[in-house]
Formats: sequence, C-alpha cells, structure tokens
Amino acid sequence: MEESVRRVWTALDRETARLSGVSITDLFAAESDRIGRMVVDAADLRVDFSRQRVDAAALKVLFALAEASELTDKRAAMFAGEPINPTEQRAVLHTALRAPGGSRSEVGGVDVVADVHRTLERMAKLVDEIAASGVRTVVNIGIGGSDLGPAMAALALAPFATTGIEVHFVSNVDPADLAACLADLDPRTTAIVVSSKTFTTQETMANARSAVNWLAAGLGFDVEATVAARVYAVSSNVAAAGAFGVLADRVLPMWDWVGGRFSLASAIGFSLMCSIGADNFRAMLAGMHAVDVHFIDAPLERNAPVLMGLVGILNRNGYGYGSRAVIPYLQQLGRFPAYLQQLEMESNGKRSDIDGHAVERHTSPVVWGEPGTNGQHAFFQLLHQGTDVIPVDFIGARRSTAGCLAVEDVASQHEKLMANLFAQAAALAFGAPAMTDNLNAAGEHRAFPGNRPSTTILMDALTPATLGQLVALYEHATFVQGVAWGINSFDQWGVELGKVIANSVYAHMAEPAAPTPLDPATRAAVAWYRS
Ligand code: F6P
Repeated sequence: MEESVRRVWTALDRETARLSGVSITDLFAAESDRIGRMVVDAADLRVDFSRQRVDAAALKVLFALAEASELTDKRAAMFAGEPINPTEQRAVLHTALRAPGGSRSEVGGVDVVADVHRTLERMAKLVDEIAASGVRTVVNIGIGGSDLGPAMAALALAPFATTGIEVHFVSNVDPADLAACLADLDPRTTAIVVSSKTFTTQETMANARSAVNWLAAGLGFDVEATVAARVYAVSSNVAAAGAFGVLADRVLPMWDWVGGRFSLASAIGFSLMCSIGADNFRAMLAGMHAVDVHFIDAPLERNAPVLMGLVGILNRNGYGYGSRAVIPYLQQLGRFPAYLQQLEMESNGKRSDIDGHAVERHTSPVVWGEPGTNGQHAFFQLLHQGTDVIPVDFIGARRSTAGCLAVEDVASQHEKLMANLFAQAAALAFGAPAMTDNLNAAGEHRAFPGNRPSTTILMDALTPATLGQLVALYEHATFVQGVAWGINSFDQWGVELGKVIANSVYAHMAEPAAPTPLDPATRAAVAWYRS
C-alpha cells in the first residue's frame, strides 16, 4: 500500500475512534442539515444514508480515501475499456451492455456497442420465435452469474411477464433441483437455455445433459434432434455450444469483458427476456444506464454508489463490522440477497491486493439477508440486541405491483409492510431505554441499545427500470470498495481449488484403486460413501 493511502486509512481510524462515543441520535442533534446532505437521489432511487454512523468530518476522510486510491481515474479506466482485470488481462465493460444504441464503448480500440445491440435484436427475435413455436416453458440451466442475476430479476419482475412463456431456473448439480423443476413440465412444450460463459461448468453441463435426455425421452427424438429442436445457448465459448449440438442461430454470444456476476444485462438475461419481453428488458437496461451516468456525473458527495461503497468501508474497516444484512421489504426481491452475495463476495472477498501483496485491511464483509417482514420474526432479535452490530440495507417501494388481490387490500397490506420497514430502521438507529415489566423490575432485557446503522433505498415501485437502477447501484458500490481496498474485483481464483479437488474426488470414486492426490480424510470419506 502506498504511504499516501496508508496515511488516509490512519486518519479514518482516528475518525472512527472519535465517533465511537457518538451515537446516531447525537449525529442528528449536531447536524441539522443531515437529511439534506445524507439522502441522495440516483435516477429514481432515494438512497438514505442518514442513519449511518458518519458525520461530515468522517465523510471528508472517506472522500480523501477515494481520492488517494484514485477512484475517479479507475472509474474512467473501467468505462474506457482498459484491461483493469490484470490477472485475466481483461477489460471490464458491463456498462457497454446497457449503453444506448449509437453510443460508443471501446475494447482495444474496437467499438462493442453495435455488437451488443445486434445481440439484443437477436435475443428479441428468438423470444418471438419461441413464443410462436408453441413452447410454453423455458428452463434456464446455469449457475453463479449465469443463474443468480436472471433468476433474481425474473422473480422481481414477475408482474411484468408479458410473453406467455413461463421461465424456470435450475442451477444445482443436485439432481433434486432439475427433477423438481421438470416434474410438472410437459416436454412437448418445453425448451432449454444453457447459460454458461465458459460452457464447461460441471454443474451446468451435467444438468444440460440430463435435461436433454428428459426432453428426448418425452419427445421420442434422439439426442441430436432434441438439441437441435429445443436447446438454446448463451456463451462466450460459441464453439463448445456448437459442439453440444446447438444450432448456430440459437447460440447467443457473450464477451470476455463481461464478468459472470456482472452479466445480467448481457445475453445471460435471455431467459429473463423470454419472460418479460424485449421492451421490459430494454427498460431494465435503460435503468442501469441511468445509474451508470449518475456514477460518472454526480459529484462524490451526491454520488449514491460512491457513498454506498465508502460507508461500507467505514463499517467494515472503521467499526470492524464483519457482515451486512440486505433486507428487501419487497417479497419479489427474495433472491436479491443471494444475487448480491455473488456480486460482492466473489468480487471483493480477496486477501491479495491487485499487485499480489497481502492486503492490510479486511475486505468484503459477509452479505446475507431475507425479505422483511419475515426476517423480523427470525433473526431481527440479534440485529437489535445481539452482541454483534450488523449494518442493514433496507429496500422498499412506495407502491406494490402485486396483482389478483382487491386493490384496497394490496394498498393496506403494503402500507403495513412499509410501516415495518420505517420502524425497523428507526428502532435500530435510535433504540429505546430499558422498560420495566412485571418479570424483571430492571427490564434490562427490554432495552434497545440503538446506534445500529442502516441505509434505506426507496423507489416508487419495483419496475424493470428501478430494478436495473438497483443492480447498477450495487455493482458500482462494489467497484468503489474494490478500488479503496486496492484489490482486483473482477477475478475469482478462490473458486478454483475446490473445482480441481472435486475432479480428483470424482476420479477416485470411479477408480478407487488408482493413485490419487487426495488427503487421508477425504479418502476415508469417499470409502464410507462407496460402501
Ligand atoms: O465458479 C465461479 C464461476 O466462474 C462464476 O464466476 C460464474 O458466474 C459461474 O462460475 C458460472 O460460470 P459459467 O457461466 O462459465 O458457467
């Protein structure tokens, strides 16, 4: 770490030491303009940082950290298509996936936007073709970034499903996942989309083969004819998709400058488009682009992804909070925490800096969460009174998009939902003194310490546009944190060792007498399994 950067980190430590005796209540009392300064708009999102344990002086140091880590230059390098992922020698240009037609985004001097829009048009055409073919169900087979983004978004945007095509997602190599999905489906009206950037991922290829066998049995075709008739693919390994038997005009390309966890806006979103249609998909892209523009243009003090990233740094490194809960008060964002787990933990769960040296500060916290209000009746006890402080991101909307119920019932339930969101943020921040009760005169067990930070993200309604904005907000906040930590947020070497050992285990299971590199504990477990 450079000396200039180390000095800012030390200044940040001084700020958190100073603030350790200051409560969020004190901060509101001291800063009359707190709401005006700490609530920022990013496109249609209202992002409220006022209940964070930060004041103007600490923010100044956080901005100094951004400056010392050259955030604005690195942001420019990302948008310029420079190879900012050095361990894979790749550009990181997911922002080009949502750039408007006619604009330019270059990788190695070559514009990619025209290609992106050609692919979007092909996707839209294939969706129409599928809808017209009598296929009623699409099963997306993929894992990690080839599942979490589109699966999260398909659930979030279920009220915007327009095509008449039902979409399911299968990811786990556990056959129970695929079996549960296919059990109620009719092979005569089902198509498969194999989504895999590499087209080599073990889980995806195993599920794809089993699903094709299921289709072939149901249709009475051979495997080759089944793949030709009913399988679509999304991959940057177009040759492997072709070798699998997928017809060339049904293979949608991906590019190596799109990371899996940043790929929702790419053709990996094809299954999502099969559900919500091309217009809604484009509205989601426009939402993402609006926050891309905000990230570039807004001054740092009003820049939501920058503030979100920096406040996360303060919580992780200044206060030492090791995890963060993401609680959407929107049932349809039920998969959003899982999606964020990959986005943030695969990006920033790193122990070496971008030059290969050990980092000097903790990196990504553990990210987890469940929709509210369900979480309130499960783990919120710990959030309010546990010994660990866990910052929370609350996400809510002014209006519900729930259908089928009486309009007044939707409105009244939604009002209760939002009252709970606002109440939880208040209770965590401001707490309540000990109350007496008839069991314990001191009532200490009924005291709420407060001073537990949260951010609240609000929107008018969860729509394709606002979902896109939300995704881009978190993507860019993740980038900001990676820059401050001095790490490469765009590789994922940490997932490789397990894959290599799994291959050795699989080989050992098949041929237990052959020499194996496996350790004694694993060999013993395999011996038990085989017995
Ligand atoms: O194993 C991790 C990972 O490489 C993720 O980064 C990626 O999103 C996922 O696997 C799926 O990879 P693919 O799209 O190549 O099947």
